[in-house]
Amino acid sequence: DDAPMKATLAFDVYGTLVDPLGIAETLRGFVGDRAAAFAQAWREKQLEYTFRRGLMRRYRDFDVCTREALGHVDARFGTRLSPAAVDALMARYLELPAYGDAVEAVSNLRELGHRVYAFSNGRPDQLLQLLQFAGLLELLDGVVSVDPVASFKPDPAVYRHFLEAADSAATDTWLVSGNPFDVIGARSAGWNAAWIRRDPAAVFDPWGIEPTLTVTSLMGLAAALPRH
Ligand code: 2OP
Repeated sequence: DDAPMKATLAFDVYGTLVDPLGIAETLRGFVGDRAAAFAQAWREKQLEYTFRRGLMRRYRDFDVCTREALGHVDARFGTRLSPAAVDALMARYLELPAYGDAVEAVSNLRELGHRVYAFSNGRPDQLLQLLQFAGLLELLDGVVSVDPVASFKPDPAVYRHFLEAADSAATDTWLVSGNPFDVIGARSAGWNAAWIRRDPAAVFDPWGIEPTLTVTSLMGLAAALPRH
């Protein structure tokens, strides 16, 4: 029949449910016109720090990576943020805006019978705050952080951790992510993965490991998931 398959959906958080570049609005008060470029550099450096700490087996949590990345970008841009400004920015990082489609899409998918989780590099307590603020927490079956593994995406160990935490088999599990590196990590771990390509200009890494499916928004997901 045409009933939707019941899947376990693991939604990436930063860059999928909430927009890390939304911090630019707060940054504008501190760095003016360079806010968008600063936000982009901050996000890239934050991810680089997670990758490097994972490889070096020198885990510090995502909050530390984010704060240290802010320090690096502040020095690079010569913006001389005060300690109070850093604290204000880090506080706003817990109130990042949800993408406009997130709440509706997650509730629809749950109503269709899928199990819906958040799965993120974020620190557990901060994920709860962030998802609560975004109005997403109450919609979710669970929130899984990489923190107990003391590593980050795309370490295969964190994808294994999710499967254990959600009691789900890789073949029944879908990563839903706007981050190509995360999609490739999940596919490499044997999962299905949907790439949320919000920006038509976004480019996928040419590694020969493809998303199971690509949609332009979270709202496209319900219709695109396979039926049986
Ligand atoms: C997350 O794990 C990769 O930032 C992304 O939420």
